[in-house]
Amino acid sequence: MSWGCIALNIQMKATSLATYKEYSSGAVMTFKVNYDSIAAAFDRRYRENDYSGVESALRTFVGTESTGRVLEVGCGTGHWLRLLNEEAIRVCGVDPSRNMLAFARTTAPDAALAQGSAEQLPWGDRTFDRVFCINALHHFGDKLGFLREAHRVLAPGGQMMTVGLDPHSGADRWYIYEYFESVLAIDKLRYPASRQIREWMHGLEYLNVRTSEVQHLPVRLSARAALEEGRLDKNVTSQLALLSDEEYERGLERIRRALESADTLGESLYLTADLRLHATFGSVPFESA
Ligand SMILES: C[S@@+](CC[C@H](N)C(=O)[O-])C[C@H]1O[C@@H](n2cnc3c(N)ncnc32)[C@H](O)[C@@H]1O
Repeated sequence: MSWGCIALNIQMKATSLATYKEYSSGAVMTFKVNYDSIAAAFDRRYRENDYSGVESALRTFVGTESTGRVLEVGCGTGHWLRLLNEEAIRVCGVDPSRNMLAFARTTAPDAALAQGSAEQLPWGDRTFDRVFCINALHHFGDKLGFLREAHRVLAPGGQMMTVGLDPHSGADRWYIYEYFESVLAIDKLRYPASRQIREWMHGLEYLNVRTSEVQHLPVRLSARAALEEGRLDKNVTSQLALLSDEEYERGLERIRRALESADTLGESLYLTADLRLHATFGSVPFESA
């Protein structure tokens, strides 16, 4: 499928399933996922997948000093805030979704939570020593606006880390990309490439800008078990939540047909993935030029 076609498909979807805006810079773009409706199912990812690499990158990034102030932007249900709470680190979280925040209140009761958006952080200048976001940047309507805001709320010498997929790297495989049409193309629009994030950060005068792989996620699931256990439910990942019911059903149907073919041959069908999460870091100068 050509890029023209993909763009057209997405424009058409925009009316039914997503609010979509594309600006030529790619910095401003919105596919609205309704996190209020998927909050209850969100944390199953932490029971089903290995995030130990992200966990250790976060611990290293924040350090063991409990005196600093740390902010997670797009904190969701508070999974990462809880981890830092346990280290007695003072943490704040911000998220626009009321229901995600309701879970965060229970998960990380010592965190200071605010309902708000990455593009307009409800804190004053130079408030934090660390700002991070995990699997959230691709949801921000104005990514460059967020990076500017993170710079503003960081104290001199403070550091920023953003962790996410880079579907532009070409290194990843995912059964969701394989069976559900357009998802990879949509992800390439939603997720900025790591190189692009670094470029934006350089433009905003972050220092020590760099990216490293922090999590390798190889997955091999029995297709039958995945279907039976709800691991392909529409609310398990934003990639599926964004699809129209018809597109989602078509993808499921492909999997069911492949399963039937495998059964006929007396074989098992596995859904496989080989994904990587990348962390991009930068710091704010000690003295403004
Ligand atoms: C995939 S979840 C990640 C949650 C959490 N960081 C984690 O890793 O468990 C993405 C989160 O980004 C939030 N989000 C979406 N748009 C946002 C925005 N403009 N500003 C801040 N957060 C936003 C969503 O509500 C959702 O909770």
